[in-house]
Amino acid sequence: MERIYLDHAATTPLDKDVLDAMLPYLTTEFGNADSPHAVGRKAMMAVDRARDTVAELVNAKPNEIYFTSGGTEADNWAIIGGAYAQRALGKNRIIVSAIEHHAVKEAAEKLKKEGFDVVVLPMNEGGRVALSDVKAALTPDTGLVAVMAVNNETGVVQPVKEIAALARENGSLFFCDAVQAAPYMPLNVKDWGVDMLSFSSHKFYGPKGCGVLYIRSGVKMDRLIVGGEQERGLRGGTTNIPAVVGLAAAYAKNVATMSASNEKIQRLRETFLSEILTLDNVHINGDSENALAAVLNLRFDGVRNEDLLYKLDLEGVCIAAGSACASASVKPSHVLTAMGLTEEKARASVRVSFGKNNTEEEIRRAAALMKAAVETLRKF
Ligand SMILES: Cc1ncc(COP(=O)(O)O)c(C=O)c1O
Repeated sequence: MERIYLDHAATTPLDKDVLDAMLPYLTTEFGNADSPHAVGRKAMMAVDRARDTVAELVNAKPNEIYFTSGGTEADNWAIIGGAYAQRALGKNRIIVSAIEHHAVKEAAEKLKKEGFDVVVLPMNEGGRVALSDVKAALTPDTGLVAVMAVNNETGVVQPVKEIAALARENGSLFFCDAVQAAPYMPLNVKDWGVDMLSFSSHKFYGPKGCGVLYIRSGVKMDRLIVGGEQERGLRGGTTNIPAVVGLAAAYAKNVATMSASNEKIQRLRETFLSEILTLDNVHINGDSENALAAVLNLRFDGVRNEDLLYKLDLEGVCIAAGSACASASVKPSHVLTAMGLTEEKARASVRVSFGKNNTEEEIRRAAALMKAAVETLRKF
């Protein structure tokens, strides 16, 4: 059975050019970047080139780019490392949005248990943060504000530049999880005005287990992972050179091909919607005027998302009920409930996420199968 993969917000396949860039570092060029000899120096040069590439593409300096084991580590580090460093400066309050990824949400919950004053920003119905809520939450003892650029379940884009400006005026750090933005929006840390920003390689056809945390120079940060002097003494652990090389190659290709991919994905979304919206009682969750084309959150009233997901899986169509990290849990999505959906409505919602390699033909077939599956499930 030919599978139709519509879960690109969970992960993407490795690009062949990226694999080619990585292969030497998985085979002949196996050095440890910290070894003080020729084999080590070659490895270090590869890491330096990758860092330079990423820095240039996000408008940062190379020494502001830290490689991590992925988006989760980068998010944990920004929140926990940032909050601890701010506490040392006398600031005990952190503000996070209600729709953050679990990597931010649970880091903030950990800090709350440790005595930090954690404020969770509410959402409007469309899944966006209101600037008035940010203003109301900011206090002189606010050390850190975290709002993601694009939500992973709805694709809704947040007013990051405006929130960053409010945080800056208040003397608070601003962290942006840009994991879902990176594949589709040019990242520019200076223009966005962020102090920290994370993204992850496997969302743009790079290897899994590799991410970036940008930390503006001058920002005080505690270490999250101790045990080595790598990443300028701030993140211990032997550098995963093939992954770092792959991340940089994938990100460079992603930036170079972004506008063509975005146009294609926009057309695929329109094709899909033109078919699906002919069903009764189907809704798009989230403000689609302010959402990326690649992520579509649909609600089919009267259908349980897990039933739809399993039925489509049997028919070869891969979609998600929410974020991949939470898909094994039976809880309704915290993102959708924060937007005001009832638990029942949240459980009637699925996420479809398109990719640059999907074809029109696949999209038409997936939409027809989804329509038929919804009609069948509604009969029960
Ligand atoms: C918004 C967001 N942040 C963080 C992560 C975690 O990234 P990683 O899978 O690299 O740990 C994800 C992954 O789904 C995500 O969508």
